[in-house]
Amino acid sequence: MARHLITSAIPYINGIKHLGNLVGSQLPADLYARYQRGRGNEVMFLCATDEHGTPAELAAAKAGKPVADYCAEMHAVQAEIARGFRLSFDHFGRSSSPQNHRLTQHFAGRLADAGLIRVVSETQVYSPADGRFLPDRYIEGTCPNCGFESARGDQCDNCTKQLDPVDLINPRSTISGSTDLEQRETKHLYLCQSQMRQQLQDWIDSKTHWPILTTSIAKKWLNDGDGLQDRGITRDLDWGIPVKKGDQDWPGMEGKVFYVWFDAPIEYIACGAEWAETQGLQADAWERWWRTDKGADDVTYTQFMGKDNVPFHTLSFPATILGSQEPWKLVDYIKSFNYLNYDGGQFSTSRGRGVFMDQALEILPADYWRWWLLSHAPESSDAEFTWENFQTSVNKDLADVLGNFVSRITKFCRSKFGEAVPEGGAWGEQEAALIETLTTRLRAYQTFMDEMEVRKSAQELRAIWVLGNEYLQSAAPWVTFKQDPDRAAMQTRLGLNLIRLYAVLSAPFIPDASAAMLAGLQTDDADWPEGDLAAWLSALPAGHAFTVPEVLFTKITDEQRADWQTRFAGIRT
Ligand code: MF3
Ligand code: ZN
Repeated sequence: MARHLITSAIPYINGIKHLGNLVGSQLPADLYARYQRGRGNEVMFLCATDEHGTPAELAAAKAGKPVADYCAEMHAVQAEIARGFRLSFDHFGRSSSPQNHRLTQHFAGRLADAGLIRVVSETQVYSPADGRFLPDRYIEGTCPNCGFESARGDQCDNCTKQLDPVDLINPRSTISGSTDLEQRETKHLYLCQSQMRQQLQDWIDSKTHWPILTTSIAKKWLNDGDGLQDRGITRDLDWGIPVKKGDQDWPGMEGKVFYVWFDAPIEYIACGAEWAETQGLQADAWERWWRTDKGADDVTYTQFMGKDNVPFHTLSFPATILGSQEPWKLVDYIKSFNYLNYDGGQFSTSRGRGVFMDQALEILPADYWRWWLLSHAPESSDAEFTWENFQTSVNKDLADVLGNFVSRITKFCRSKFGEAVPEGGAWGEQEAALIETLTTRLRAYQTFMDEMEVRKSAQELRAIWVLGNEYLQSAAPWVTFKQDPDRAAMQTRLGLNLIRLYAVLSAPFIPDASAAMLAGLQTDDADWPEGDLAAWLSALPAGHAFTVPEVLFTKITDEQRADWQTRFAGIRT
């Protein structure tokens, strides 16, 4: 049994994520986790909320809540929505957990001992009116690069240039609006990533099988020089993980916290420790997933993320891991995604544009979204969500192809043979040919799933559904029935067994429909077809009772489509 550690980029705590975020990490990670479990492998699938940094503090201030309360509430909201989308995390943790506090401080201590941390005295913007430094998003002003007037301290939203708060023209505090700002000296810890350039370069060069999107971004950052500069890993903020060296105080760093991008990826590991605690397991039960000296050497670790996250996962986080000189499990494969656009523009959280996860579930069940999003995943380029395309895919693939097959064969059987699998004779040539084609397609499906080729997997699965319909159309048991009821019974028996095949193969994409199909067939034998497919397709024997399932998918009407198009055209308030 292979062991798969799978993580999805951890979503920021501030606000509900949109469908573009979902398809960029959590959803494909879930697809892969479900597939690996389906194949009988052991899976640890982890995700969490990313709770530190200025976005969290500002959102809490806007909501008029203490930041800890705000984070606890939003974590519960995100967890509930994740359940709604059937994201099958083994644990959905929090980067503010005590486990992450300890581990982040531990890593900082190790890095310091390895000589990879230096103290830098730098000038930062200080606001006397607010009584504090204004890092990152606590400050806004005019972009020195493009002249945009609401550029944030860390980045300009207009031209995307990375900024330093001291670069801004006409800066103002986003807390009080004060423009009475001064520059003060403050000391921060820097991670000496530049010392690790060769080590990181060699590591990335060894990953020849990684997707081009991942390696091209990593190499660009390595070679542009910009990416591997030493990086500040502390901030003058209240909310965050206090700067400590292991469990020791860090002289000169009192009142400071680690930078969110330092502690967030460490949460992948801490989340494992949270999982062990939640499961009531031994405190070190998670180490067999994360420590190569404790059994994780046979683990395959795959990370899922959007392309904007790639530099942190290919360079900064590995620098933390390698720099610690401890046997932590390093990522084996990074699957990254381009962006999903929304109806002629971009999804935008700050502007509330597009469909957000909670809204999506209000209008349709999870499977409809899962199918569209995964079958249109932005893999080789950016992709676009349009309501027309969504309606067409759902109606054709789910309702006409899969749903129709299930309903036709179960209803036909009920009317002619009753609600039990009919006997009939042996398979003929047509059935043998179908099984041969199915075997080939099943192999292709598995290969695409193994390689995390999400779109190609969806296409292959759809082709497998289509085969069932084609078979039904040409075998036409309703015609056969008149001359040769025995043969019609055999055809129907195969048809019913095909439903089980579809339930098992489709489960990673559309878990609820899959469960409904198995429930209709009154079986919980959902083992993957590993051996001879012909034998597997005989598993539901003659006499096995079933019920006709409720309609699996209802079509989206033109009226609904038009209605949603208008409803989601504007800005979410
Ligand atoms: N919160 C970040 C984002 O949504 C992702 C963090 S991933 C981790 O872009 F590496 F930090 F864990
Ligand atoms: Zn700009």
